[in-house]
Amino acid sequence: MEAEIKFEQELAEEDKPPSIFPRPAKSWRVAVIANVKGETAIPIDGPADAGAEFDRRETIDAIRAAIASDGHTAFFLPADEHLPYALRDAQPDICFNIAEGIRGDGREAQVPALLELLGIPYTASRVLANAVGLDKTMTKRVWRDAGLPTASFQEFATGAEPLDPFLRFPLFVKPAREGTGMGMDDSSIVRNETELRRRAAWVIENYSQPALAEEYLPGREFTVGVLGRADAQLYARRPGLYSADGFIRLPVLEVDNGQSITPGVYGHAAKTLHTGDTGVPGFLCPAPISMKFASELQELAIRAHTVLGAQDVSRVDVRLDAEGNPRLLEINTLPGLTPGFSDLCVIANATGLRYEDLILEILHLGASRFGMLKPKPVMEISPMRLQHRSPALAPLALR
Ligand SMILES: Nc1ncnc2c1ncn2[C@@H]1O[C@H](COP(=O)(O)OP(=O)(O)OP(=O)(O)O)[C@@H](O)[C@H]1O
Ligand SMILES: [Mg+2]
Repeated sequence: MEAEIKFEQELAEEDKPPSIFPRPAKSWRVAVIANVKGETAIPIDGPADAGAEFDRRETIDAIRAAIASDGHTAFFLPADEHLPYALRDAQPDICFNIAEGIRGDGREAQVPALLELLGIPYTASRVLANAVGLDKTMTKRVWRDAGLPTASFQEFATGAEPLDPFLRFPLFVKPAREGTGMGMDDSSIVRNETELRRRAAWVIENYSQPALAEEYLPGREFTVGVLGRADAQLYARRPGLYSADGFIRLPVLEVDNGQSITPGVYGHAAKTLHTGDTGVPGFLCPAPISMKFASELQELAIRAHTVLGAQDVSRVDVRLDAEGNPRLLEINTLPGLTPGFSDLCVIANATGLRYEDLILEILHLGASRFGMLKPKPVMEISPMRLQHRSPALAPLALR
């Protein structure tokens, strides 16, 4: 597939207007792959809130429109058991993956695994980061090993495990592998061993997966968008937005759970509300914090993303402990992309990245990893930026 792609510079003799972006010479056929609310069948033994993470048709249409605005053809393929055959028939050049997956312990990695098997390029994180990122316990183990701050925790697979004597109540109990606040409300906060065992048993029974108990973090809550990669400036449509290390410093968003329908917790009920609804949390972007602290949170999120091996885009959730120290909660390697609603879209918008820009940056960064875009000529990147590039990329820069 790569061999067929001709690049703009190779077609210089053709009468084309110069482009400021690295661009493919031909438009791509892009498959937007997703699970859709009300369309993807939910396993009959799933929990009451199963499918909460699935996307709406409107989101898929918005992503398609954004991709089409750059001259590509975008079509939707449902992430279900027919996907292997649909891919064979549709022959996309690249897939824009937002599929949550249907079942199993690595469901967010199912579509990437299939695309790897078929050799089809796709956007955002690959198999390992999507699988580990879905599992909050595994993610915390990776972060802890890398020396990144995350609350102390214990996983309960059966619920009968002896309690770690070093854990301090209150604890917060959640399903290890869900999202969108599923299985989380104010009863997730447990104050003693009896409450812990009761809640852990409820999670295990209802979600058919381990319960993660971690120390309750009473402080403010932030979410930090991550967009970029060490060599992103070579391929980005908006290279000026990226810092020397290849990541955009997106403004931090604070979630104020004070008025929330799930008080103190950004739980499932609160996540389904829209701006203006009663009980919706406050969303403050940029967060009312010092520049120094915002920068600390941005660096923490980038390290959390990088250590996990996430690619190009993610959203990292952080809460403060009783002393005001940031603690990593979880990473979303497939962050929601509903225009004007999902946290990452709100964050991008606050920095001047329109929805179309955000989608196209993700598409370009993904495509470049599969050799579908030629790097921007190195002369156009400032020497200061080159200095900071990782040694592995130095030969590329000097070519
Ligand atoms: N240890 C904790 N202490 C206090 N509150 C917590 C803790 N863990 C989670 N929460 C609350 O529960 C919410 C949801 O938790 P978390 O981000 O881990 O789950 P999620 O459902 O995967 O989220 P998302 O919708 O971002 O995918 C958090 O935003 C926070 O308000
Ligand atoms: Mg979260």
